[in-house]
Amino acid sequence: MLENNQEITLQWFPGHMAKTRRLITANCKLVDIVVEVVDARIPRSSRNPELLHLIDGKPFLTLFNKSDMADGGVTDRWISHYKKQGITALKIDCKSGNGVGAILPAIRTKLKDKMERMAAKGAKGMPIRVMVVGIPNVGKSSVINRLSGGKRAKVEDRPGVTRGKQWITLPGGIELLDTPGVLWPKFEDQNVGKKLAFTGAIRDQIMDVEWLAMKLLEFLAENYPQAVQSRYKVDVTAYEDSFTALEAIGRARGMLVPGGQVDTLRAATMLLDEFRGGKLGRLSLERPEDFNEPV
Ligand code: G4P
Repeated sequence: MLENNQEITLQWFPGHMAKTRRLITANCKLVDIVVEVVDARIPRSSRNPELLHLIDGKPFLTLFNKSDMADGGVTDRWISHYKKQGITALKIDCKSGNGVGAILPAIRTKLKDKMERMAAKGAKGMPIRVMVVGIPNVGKSSVINRLSGGKRAKVEDRPGVTRGKQWITLPGGIELLDTPGVLWPKFEDQNVGKKLAFTGAIRDQIMDVEWLAMKLLEFLAENYPQAVQSRYKVDVTAYEDSFTALEAIGRARGMLVPGGQVDTLRAATMLLDEFRGGKLGRLSLERPEDFNEPV
């Protein structure tokens, strides 16, 4: 049995964070709009609230990516939660491409007034420049690939663009920075670390897999017991602790070691893999009602 109070202590190095901050701030000056990508299963934990400060009032929109893996009703509630605060948010899925077609029109709508003002001043036909940002693993590269149709970036230097940066030309006068801005996750809250680990955003090598699986089972027992029942024929709410529930799942899958005990490490790895692979269904780990705060 494992200690129940393990902590996820992954830290980003302060030097790395400072460099990232500088990069985002510098690149932000080159673009008209910032497109933030979050994981639809954990819209709060997969975003860094510092982004709003870094982009300093620049228009932005948020993409709820991986919506194919999230609970659709919950994602819709998140999107209306954002809309109520005047923030454009779109539900997308880069795996199938669902929703991706709405991104460029949403960017144009967001910048319509600015473009009209510029056209009135004689600056008609100026491209709209866009930068994609987000924490690791949310699907930033997938968004860029989807928008550009996998097209290689066109080499085109512009004033103020550091060497190596390239703009991809998209339909309708939009230019996309070919490298995304990488934000760091916000680790102040242990729950954030846990949810990032459940979704696989943090590598398993740095934490105890059995502990993580037990925590996931506790979440599932409270929120989606039916998903565990359907997949493993185990009533996860019937056990007094999550380790025993993990054993039951391992036993149901025949994961026994000589002597008849359950190989809980194997069961834990399998549970996490199956959860991340969407085998337990479309599940959301965060709901807007859980957070009594604005975006
Ligand atoms: P990043 O640039 O933000 O770090 O993320 P990236 O696009 O590399 O995507 C991270 C992982 O998430 C990739 O899987 C990618 O295929 C997957 N992914 C991206 N968007 C979606 C989506 O909308 N739905 C689903 N289900 N998955 C998505 P991977 O296992 O790391 O690589 P691979 O499977 O593509 O080889």
